[in-house]
Amino acid sequence: MSMLITGIGELVTNDGTVDGAVDDPLHAGLGVIRDAAVVLSGGGEDSAPTVEWVGPADQAPAADWSISLEGRAVVPGFVDSHSHLVFDGDRSAEFAARMSGTPYDGGGITVTVEATRAADRPRLRELLQQRVSEMRSQGTTTVEVKSGYGLTVEDEVKALRLAREVTPEVTFLGAHVVPPEARGSAADRAAYLDLVVGEMLTACAPHARWIDVFCEPASPHAFDGEESRRVLEAGRDAGLELRVHGNQLGHGPGVQLAVELGAASVDHCTYLTDEDVEALAGSGTVATLLPGVEFSTRQPYPDARRLLDAGVQVAIATDCNPGTCYSSSMPLMIALAVREMGMTPAEALRAATVTAAKALRRTDIGRIAVGQRADLALVDAPSWLHIPYRVGVPVVRALEV
Ligand code: NIG
Ligand code: FE
Repeated sequence: MSMLITGIGELVTNDGTVDGAVDDPLHAGLGVIRDAAVVLSGGGEDSAPTVEWVGPADQAPAADWSISLEGRAVVPGFVDSHSHLVFDGDRSAEFAARMSGTPYDGGGITVTVEATRAADRPRLRELLQQRVSEMRSQGTTTVEVKSGYGLTVEDEVKALRLAREVTPEVTFLGAHVVPPEARGSAADRAAYLDLVVGEMLTACAPHARWIDVFCEPASPHAFDGEESRRVLEAGRDAGLELRVHGNQLGHGPGVQLAVELGAASVDHCTYLTDEDVEALAGSGTVATLLPGVEFSTRQPYPDARRLLDAGVQVAIATDCNPGTCYSSSMPLMIALAVREMGMTPAEALRAATVTAAKALRRTDIGRIAVGQRADLALVDAPSWLHIPYRVGVPVVRALEV
């Protein structure tokens, strides 16, 4: 079965090779076609529909079905490459305390760990599914989901299996923090790290694609450079691909380690030296910025302009989690990237789609081009620019095909 979607006022393809794209600085890199159509085909039990044709509406081929979007815009579905959606518990009071000046130090993670351990599987599944559908309703069609609020072998496996029900982009984050029961002594901390790279990794690796570590010497419960290296190397040896939480709360070794080990992405990147920026620029590692975190912790925003001007690949994601940013909204991240991080609207949209796909090493999403997955988001407005322009207004949602 094929479906023709016509009447697209503006189609963002992210395809630099597309014929007849709008050619001006406002649309740079977006491959925008006006008065466009797409044809989608396939889709069944095991395979997602794909894009079969893209172009001007007046040249569209016939299809089995056809709908008109009556001048609305279409963009590639957002790729949220960083989230922590498997959790229970409430930390709204911690947010309120931060708004009156209490700094974030990662300590509140244990509140979520306790609540998540206490929750049964159906409850966690329901919460997870609600969060994923909240994301879809705001235009997100791919999400990465981490464990990291279980921190026992059994609880981490439980989180990863649930995450696998909603996405293939599943990340083992046993090295989120040292859990409360292992904070009594240096020996207890070392034993926890041994567990993470040993029995926990063995049990978790079959359920995950990625391994991540909270590399943050500024937090007493997160991991330093050597500990992080150990986690990442063990994960790589177990067949997992690498991503890193780094340089969130202060300068540190996260970025250099991520680049050295060939991680797909290093996320946060709030505190960077010139050497960090240089290392990223010459690497295949994406810098994923999470501006909702700075919004919700009152930290300074990362300097996206500095990174882009140096030639670094920059993605943006929500980091949706109960502590540093309980927002599932990619449109909000785009608006913050534009308003607070010096990105142009076109740079922010690419960061939320095609570069975020790169942060997940995915080549089948993030663009609207022949052969790509048919992951489209519908903008209830004549231009994609309304995504940051109409901040806080639900103008974009995943298109159900
Ligand atoms: O990405 N930085 C570490 N982990 C999360 C926050 C987790 C939490 O506070 O619950 C983050 O910001
Ligand atoms: Fe995170």
